Amino acid sequence: MQNEISTLLADIKEQVLYFQELGAENFSVDLPEVQSSKFKVQQEKLERFAPPDFNLPTIESAKPKISIVENSSTRQSLLESTKLSRLPTLPKRNSYPTNPIKEPARELEMPKIITEEMPTLFGEITQTLPESTETIEEIRLDIGDCIRCPLHQGRTKIVHSTGNLKADLMFVGEAPGANEDAEGVPFVGRAGQLLNKIIESIGLKREDVLVGNVNRCRPPNNRTPTQAEANVCKQFLLREIAVVRPKVIVVLGNTATQNLLETKVGITKLRGEFQDYFGVKVMPTFHPAYLLRDPSKKRETWEDMKKVRDFINAI
Ligand code: URA
Ligand code: URA
Repeated sequence: MQNEISTLLADIKEQVLYFQELGAENFSVDLPEVQSSKFKVQQEKLERFAPPDFNLPTIESAKPKISIVENSSTRQSLLESTKLSRLPTLPKRNSYPTNPIKEPARELEMPKIITEEMPTLFGEITQTLPESTETIEEIRLDIGDCIRCPLHQGRTKIVHSTGNLKADLMFVGEAPGANEDAEGVPFVGRAGQLLNKIIESIGLKREDVLVGNVNRCRPPNNRTPTQAEANVCKQFLLREIAVVRPKVIVVLGNTATQNLLETKVGITKLRGEFQDYFGVKVMPTFHPAYLLRDPSKKRETWEDMKKVRDFINAI
């Protein structure tokens, strides 16, 4: 019983922290220490601590017992008293500069990612990513001033993957929107701001992870890329994955999920369970733009991200 209460409290604290990470900066609740063995809690108190709803706009007005205070120390103690604080920070490594290369497109020459079959200890065959023989720079040179698909006609900038090229964790979205097209950096608009909060909610910073898209040019009116457009562009993403070799890839929304996993199954079915991409763990979750439209789904994404966090924590 004691244990269950401790676990429940730790979970509630994490959710409070997540609310804060999602923008409820002055949100503070007074929670007893999880570790205290003398701690006894009544049912009504537990209810008092339960987050009202996973719905940001209502947080500030939510009852009960929410004090509006400057709370960096509260936040710190929340961090320290939850499992989040035990997450190792990933070493900072060089981020690749955005759009450094302006080169004419080469001939279409995209070697397929060849996978190796590796017998495991128990004799079954699993497929693993091969060692890549190329570098990110070479992939960027190959992309060049790409005109391989019609999306190049509407683009301002090609939006390459950015972030930590030695990351354990990678996020993949669909395609650039207006802000990304203007800046040449993925996920910098409203969805990007929410993605940053999602990353921070598991104790990481945006610079710790690698962020990319299936398509690198903005589709007209932000429409979903066609399968032909996705097929051409995703080869570069797959080659980058083979170079970077992240331990976990979070695929955001239907386009990323279906293209990486080569499935027609939808995100609602696939989210929340680890999938496999040649030995790399893949966690499908909702796209942040979808979460902006339906904030009630944030809770599910939070559950998915906790699984990602726990997996990375255990590496
Ligand atoms: N949506 C995406 O899928 N990717 C971006 O880079 C921005 C918004
Ligand atoms: N459809 C998408 O493409 N993404 C979501 O996250 C939800 C529905």
